[in-house]
Amino acid sequence: MTEQMTKIRACSADALEVGSVLQIELEDRDPIALYRISDGYYATDDLCTHGAAFLSEGDVEDDEIYCPFHAGAFDIRTGEATAAPCVVAVRAHPVTVEGDDVYIEISN
Ligand code: FES
Repeated sequence: MTEQMTKIRACSADALEVGSVLQIELEDRDPIALYRISDGYYATDDLCTHGAAFLSEGDVEDDEIYCPFHAGAFDIRTGEATAAPCVVAVRAHPVTVEGDDVYIEISN
């Protein structure tokens, strides 16, 4: 099966401060977490791979997101797990800024 990519407008480019995360709700899939860190915007699946927690409710520290449930962590740029108890990566999604708008390319 071929992978479908869907490009969605997430928000305006000034909607997020550096060091913050925003939940992007979608109609047909689980939400996405959109992050702004020092070198730009990044996106991952919002649901933690360890349990039923939204990463967008956690804390951004430099280039990592810390889950609000058990303080596991992921690399915001790649989605790789960086701190226990998380071991499985969250899926990362490409982000582009076009003019004043932030877009996420989501693979289904
Ligand atoms: Fe995220 Fe456990 S649910 S670290």
